[in-house]
Amino acid sequence: MSWASSNSALVIAVSNAGGMGVLAGGPMRVEDFARAVAQIKAGTSKPWGVNIPLNNPRAPQLLDIAFEARIPVMVASQGGVRGHLARFRGIGTKWLHVVASIEHALKAQAAGVDALVVDGAEAGGHPPPAEVSTLVLVRRVVKSVKLPVVASGGIADGYGIAAMLALGAEGVQLGTRFIATPEASVHPAYKEAVLKADVGDTAFVGRGGHPIRQLRNAFSDRYATAERAGTTAEELEKLFAAATLKQAALDGDVAWGKVEAGQSAGLVDDILPAAELMRRLVAELNQASARLNQGQSTFSEAR
Ligand SMILES: Cc1cc2nc3c(=O)[nH]c(=O)nc-3n(C[C@H](O)[C@H](O)[C@H](O)COP(=O)(O)O)c2cc1C
Repeated sequence: MSWASSNSALVIAVSNAGGMGVLAGGPMRVEDFARAVAQIKAGTSKPWGVNIPLNNPRAPQLLDIAFEARIPVMVASQGGVRGHLARFRGIGTKWLHVVASIEHALKAQAAGVDALVVDGAEAGGHPPPAEVSTLVLVRRVVKSVKLPVVASGGIADGYGIAAMLALGAEGVQLGTRFIATPEASVHPAYKEAVLKADVGDTAFVGRGGHPIRQLRNAFSDRYATAERAGTTAEELEKLFAAATLKQAALDGDVAWGKVEAGQSAGLVDDILPAAELMRRLVAELNQASARLNQGQSTFSEAR
């Protein structure tokens, strides 16, 4: 997650607790990225990864740093992979690619990636323009590819993880839930807004372009009003570009910034250290699995 996981502490904490922390390189300066990569290498011997949006102007430099550091896992998004795969293969890096449609899933498979991260419409950040839910999109992709699938979007606890494993996913990616950790590097007002939000408090902003899901606020309301009023695509684009994630994440402007977060914000009630959160997720997953294994007689009791 840009800004939230653009630091080494969250990645190290998640990986050392048995998950796979991912450093979000997108908003980072090249030298900060290099420093964080070195810190992570020193801080964990467990699997970890970096996210590099391939259409980012700094992507070539970030990719070079990741290559030099022989990163275990790449979680790439937004762009073609063909020019990059071979050299990372050569150093044993596993390449996961983020997709939000069946078309992109098939394209990434054809390009030779190792696994897919499939983002559904509930997700914070960049959900599918077609607004297909995680429940439906993950199942569709699982049925159509031969690669391992990591389900993403709307998962905030072990019960959601169990649901995605039931659909055939091999793993899950959680975003919004980890904003509510002390290690996430966003402004306290951002974390507070995630805690306060309920499941219906997000907005889908930027339909027709590269949409985002964020917490509803003055900015998203203004955008929705303009959309309803039939504002031209050009004007809407200008409006969209006038607010940023940085504004919310760094400056704490949760009224006029892009407070990117998923519908799962409504399932988040507390700030927990990442390692503790990991333990809770595993305990809940075990409860959910036990509940399913016990069969229907217990369905009404175990929540
Ligand atoms: C604040 C925020 C920033 C994000 N930044 C990125 C990013 O830089 N690259 C990326 O691939 N996904 C990004 N995402 C998407 C997440 O990686 C993940 O797919 C999504 O949060 C999953 O849905 P959830 O929020 O319901 O857990 C971001 C999400 C959020 C909430």
